Order: sequence, then C-alpha cells, then structure tokens
Amino acid sequence: MSLLIRDVSRSFGGFRALDRVSLEMPADGLLGVIGPNGAGKSTLFSVVSGFIPADAGTVSLDGRTLDRLGPAARARLGLVRTFQVPREFHHLTVRENLMAAAPGQSGENLLGLFFRPGRVAAEEALTAAAAQDVMDFLRLAPVAGLPAGRLSGGQKKLLELGRALMAKPRLILLDEPFAGVNAVLVQEIAARITELNARGIGFLIIEHDLQALSRLVPRLAVMDRGRVLAAGAPAEVLADARVREAYLGGVVA
Ligand SMILES: Nc1ncnc2c1ncn2[C@@H]1O[C@H](COP(=O)(O)OP(=O)(O)O)[C@@H](O)[C@H]1O
Ligand SMILES: [Mg+2]
Repeated sequence: MSLLIRDVSRSFGGFRALDRVSLEMPADGLLGVIGPNGAGKSTLFSVVSGFIPADAGTVSLDGRTLDRLGPAARARLGLVRTFQVPREFHHLTVRENLMAAAPGQSGENLLGLFFRPGRVAAEEALTAAAAQDVMDFLRLAPVAGLPAGRLSGGQKKLLELGRALMAKPRLILLDEPFAGVNAVLVQEIAARITELNARGIGFLIIEHDLQALSRLVPRLAVMDRGRVLAAGAPAEVLADARVREAYLGGVVA
C-alpha cells in the first residue's frame, strides 16, 4: 500500500520544473519535502493530485496508475491536497466551508434534489455531523460561525486541513502548512497531523520551515531545481553536503 512517483517530468515552456522525480512512501506514512523556492515542490503536488498532467513518468497508488485520472477521481481514491495559498471561501463561515468541501452529494445535482429530497436531507445531516467532528478535532468549533476571511493565517491553514479531511482521505498532500503561522499554532497543527497519522492517514508535506518539519516527520526528501537531491532520516539528509549547499547555501544551521 504505497504512493509511488516514478521519473516524473514537467516543463513550462522550455523550463523543466520537474526533472525525473522519483519518490515512494507508504500510503499511511509521513514524508516531508523541503527545498528552496522554485525547486518544483508545488508542481510535484499538482502532478500527484491530478491538477496538471506530467509530461513523462507515472504516479500510482497501491499499484494502480493514476495518470489518466483528474483531481476528483484521485480524491475518491483517498488522495487529496491542500494549496500553498489557502482556498477557503472568504464570505462563507467556517462550518459552511467544511460542508462545501464534502464530496459527491446528491444535492450538487438538481435532479437529485428534485427526485430524492429525503436522501438529500439525510446526506446533509451526515455532512453537518462530519463538519462538526472536524471542527471539534481541529479546535475550530469556537469560530464555526465566523466568515473564513476573518480567520488568522494559522486558522486558515487549519481550515484548509479540515476541508481535506471532509473528503475522508487516506493520504493528504499538505503544501506549506506552517507558512505564515505563529509558533503556537505551528505546534497545534503539527500535533493534529501526528494524531491523524497515528489513526492511519498518510501525509506528504511540503514545508519551508525546516525546523518544524524535521521535528514532525521521520523521513525527508530534499528537492532542488526540479530534482530530488536526497531522501532519508532528517539528520542524515541534512548532513548531506549537496543538501547543505543547495538548501542552506552552505551555511551550518
Ligand atoms: N503554471 C506555471 N507556468 C509557468 N511556470 C511555472 C508554473 N508553475 C510553476 N512554474 C515554475 O516552475 C518552478 C517551480 O515552481 P514551484 O513548483 O511552485 O516551486 P516550489 O513550490 O518548490 O517553490 C518555478 O520556477 C515556477 O516559476
Ligand atoms: Mg510551492
């Protein structure tokens, strides 16, 4: 049961944002990806989650190739992503944002609403209960009725994680969950990730905050200029001379 990324390449114009990237992780694992700006990390997430096609290479989950599937089909298989810039609906409340993230309701389809009103009501009740569970788990219940646009940076990141959880995922791709988040909330978010992982949800996490990430994950991959430079235990990887050169500019952290 694993996510397998093999020899994935992707160019924009003549620029190779991903150059034969290969990575593998158990579907219920916890893998971090670090690298300087422009290394190709977000592009890798877009390819893995099906938002943009690769030029070459293949992505598979549990031995099943995902290459021809779009984001919704991948989400149904349990693979969901968050975005570096949170994509909440500013005017909707936290609760409404979570409910809107629930996949595949009959209410999304007008015919379903017309022919099966009872079923739609039952689904809505289930979705509301799921949203409440997610808010309780993420400590967002006190701001349930607040428009999402009024949340702090850290709360928006929590909401983004919550929206991913509404899809009942097996593996979540988190794009910079700690960016613009204060130190207290970084600890909160890290603790929630650890709890979810203990319940069997896998995480592939892009992060710029090297300290926070290396405390959280047992395995780290380092990307630079579209390539994976090294992967392994954080201490090992961070001791690698090429990694220090690329990521830390040769400076001892
Ligand atoms: N849609 C796009 N069109 C053109 N260039 C892109 C696009 N997306 C990413 N890039 C380029 O690809 C490189 C990698 O970007 P990105 O994956 O966002 O890096 P990272 O997330 O590691 O900072 C950057 O040079 C970026 O400008
Ligand atoms: Mg990025």
